[in-house]
Amino acid sequence: MNRPDLRISIGSTVFSNPVLTASGTFGYAREFEPYLNLHRLGGVVVKGISLSPRKGNPPPRIVETACGMLNAIGLENVGLERFISEKMPYLREIGTKVIVNILGDSLDDYRLLAARLSEVEGVHAIEVNISCPNVKKGGVAFGTDAAMAEAVTRAVCEESGVPVIVKLSPNVTDITLIARAVENGGAQAVSLINTLLGMAIDSRSRRPKLANIVGGLSGPAIKPVALRMVWQVARAVQIPVIGIGGISNATDAIEFFLAGASAVQIGTANFVNPGVCDEVVRGIEEYLVEHRLQGIQGLIGALIVDC
Ligand SMILES: Cc1cc2nc3c(=O)[nH]c(=O)nc-3n(C[C@H](O)[C@H](O)[C@H](O)COP(=O)(O)O)c2cc1C
Repeated sequence: MNRPDLRISIGSTVFSNPVLTASGTFGYAREFEPYLNLHRLGGVVVKGISLSPRKGNPPPRIVETACGMLNAIGLENVGLERFISEKMPYLREIGTKVIVNILGDSLDDYRLLAARLSEVEGVHAIEVNISCPNVKKGGVAFGTDAAMAEAVTRAVCEESGVPVIVKLSPNVTDITLIARAVENGGAQAVSLINTLLGMAIDSRSRRPKLANIVGGLSGPAIKPVALRMVWQVARAVQIPVIGIGGISNATDAIEFFLAGASAVQIGTANFVNPGVCDEVVRGIEEYLVEHRLQGIQGLIGALIVDC
């Protein structure tokens, strides 16, 4: 049997395999060079980029929790222009697809980011983080209101020359409403989930463990929630779904494909095992051979439900 075909497409961008890194957990890729063959990844999603540099929240910003972690990094990043001049030259050389995650405080921020980034050589797609507050609309997160989510998606799609992926927040009542809204806005794919809002308290000091008090929960603890949301969204939209949340090995990734994901992103697991993405690519390949499937397409949405 030939090697299985792992390729997937999002809009006009073809990925050599469906394993991507999740934003904020893989730096700007160079940090992981000693641990794995970067060109073996389907793609790298870089830390969220804003128009201006951001310092993020004060420490402590990370806390370990049962089967996961809480973070309140506060979207620290080098800003658009330094990202382009300092980080893109390396990213262009690693031989994999580069997806730039963007964040803004207003529709104009998102427009400017999309327009500038899509003219940069080596940027293959944009991922829009809509979990950020819209400062012009009283701080309500773009991702928790369907009309705002659609508007920000439309604004980015109008400016972007590369495929647009919109990253959904799980901190909503019905995620399918937001998914449909961003599909209407022109998104070429959705990725989900971002972190779930959580909190940790130190009973001895009687203080919150994070300086920010609340943070985003990630890691294996959130996998069942992510799987459920991916399954719901995959049935609600026609565009590809990228599954994220607690994926730590190939079996986890395969569960997301069965639920309807066309690709996966790996986040917190990179902190535990920096070579994990490479292992997941190999594990998916082995599964496809063992199950006599020609390629990844045979697995997407292949969940068997007996009722
Ligand atoms: C330390 C840290 C930083 C993150 N930064 C970002 C970010 O800048 N933009 C974004 O869209 N998601 C960010 N995320 C969310 C992850 O990309 C991912 O959606 C989430 O962690 C769930 O996946 P996981 O359980 O595999 O980590 C961050 C997560 C962590 C743990």
